[in-house]
Amino acid sequence: MKFSLVIAEAAIESIPEILQHNKIVKEHAVRLNKSVNELILDINYHYFAMKKAGLKHREKRGRPDIIHFCLLCILSTPLFFENQIKVYVHTIDNKVIFIGENLRIPKSFLRFEGVMMKLFLEKKIISNEKACLLEIKDMTLEQLLKIIKPDEIIGFSTTGNTKRLEQILAENLKYKKGHYVFIVGGFQSGHFSEESLKSMAKIFSISRYSLEAHVVISRLIYECEKFLIHQKPN
Ligand SMILES: C[S@@+](CC[C@H](N)C(=O)[O-])C[C@H]1O[C@@H](n2cnc3c(N)ncnc32)[C@H](O)[C@@H]1O
Repeated sequence: MKFSLVIAEAAIESIPEILQHNKIVKEHAVRLNKSVNELILDINYHYFAMKKAGLKHREKRGRPDIIHFCLLCILSTPLFFENQIKVYVHTIDNKVIFIGENLRIPKSFLRFEGVMMKLFLEKKIISNEKACLLEIKDMTLEQLLKIIKPDEIIGFSTTGNTKRLEQILAENLKYKKGHYVFIVGGFQSGHFSEESLKSMAKIFSISRYSLEAHVVISRLIYECEKFLIHQKPN
């Protein structure tokens, strides 16, 4: 059995075109001794610029820390160490970050942001041993799912039918050799776009609370690990 996890519509992106000439953004770049196109959109610094420009869907953008948290929760689990789950970050502006096997990311957000700046600029990060650690490509969620070719796609949202995670896995992971994709939103508020929803055959809620993405991911990973241990032969 194989798993893939897609953090979808993730709130991580370069500075959008509409903000490239904004005074606040330009001053931030100067403070960091960088050019505007090297920066990652971050609501902590660019909130007023995003608001003034009327940036579309701004309630779902400029939170790279969410992706940092999510990746920290996945990349240090036995499921990931044992290559039983592949991880993809689909961004709100339709790019996909491919996460290499055995990748470790910095625990410090500042250093993580530095890595992301380099990735968005250079498109690929290669290890000293010449393995591809991170790669970013222009790609929609639909195009990514066509590449992954899963047997089943399971989305998570507060709008789905509420069930216990354990039960969701027991009822839906039917084939021992199946490839299952889970989709969790990588944004702070709001809901998946209609386009993303079209890609999800099934959508479940796992709590009566709106949870943070990293909490949903941590629980999902742990349930997958338990599911694999208790999986019956055949
Ligand atoms: C901070 S939430 C986004 C806010 C959105 N209003 C919501 O509650 O789904 C980030 C992601 O976590 C997942 N999530 C949050 N609460 C959930 C729940 N109760 N059941 C299933 N997934 C949940 C969804 O994938 C969501 O897109």
